[in-house]
Amino acid sequence: MKVLIKLHDLVFEPYISGEEINKAIETIAEKLNEDFKGERPIFLSVLNGSFMFSSEVMKRFKEECEIHFVKLGSYEGTDSTGNVRTLIGLNKSLAGKKVVILEDIVDTGGTLKELDRILKEKNVAEYKIATLFYKPSMYREKFTLNYTGIEIPNEFIVGYGLDYDGLGRNLTSVYKRKS
Ligand code: IMP
Ligand code: MG
Repeated sequence: MKVLIKLHDLVFEPYISGEEINKAIETIAEKLNEDFKGERPIFLSVLNGSFMFSSEVMKRFKEECEIHFVKLGSYEGTDSTGNVRTLIGLNKSLAGKKVVILEDIVDTGGTLKELDRILKEKNVAEYKIATLFYKPSMYREKFTLNYTGIEIPNEFIVGYGLDYDGLGRNLTSVYKRKS
């Protein structure tokens, strides 16, 4: 029997298990450990959604590293407004550093476009993009996603850091909006 949950006015059904999510994170972390051997990357966690993914990646990363946070927002309810705003910015110099962006989900790519602008302005040496979830059918940008966890169709999901109007972030598996 499927266990439905209700957040605000919407009903959600189970979609991606905690085990599947853990596997995807293990794979991403293994690749990061290989690709950044002997380096000291700066993880850039995009708040709020990526706090849980970021912490799981950090725990599995074996080289020296730093983590910084940036907060961008574009969503209202279940829709992207297409208008990305910086809510908490970067206050540290990233000039010449290697950065790994940690995103909970890449949807239209609007957030990445804004991050690309910010990181270029900061003169980073290079940056890579790691995202736990990815909606390929919605993606409108050209930036290569270097590390992608789980691809999903255009569903609205909650859990594992992702929210619907603030709720659902604490769920350790992912639910999708019930149609
Ligand atoms: P983008 O800028 O359109 O790529 O959207 C990225 C941001 O929108 C993500 O970092 C999430 O915070 C939010 N988002 C996109 N899809 C979903 C979803 O299905 N559930 C919850 N938040 C989402
Ligand atoms: Mg986000």
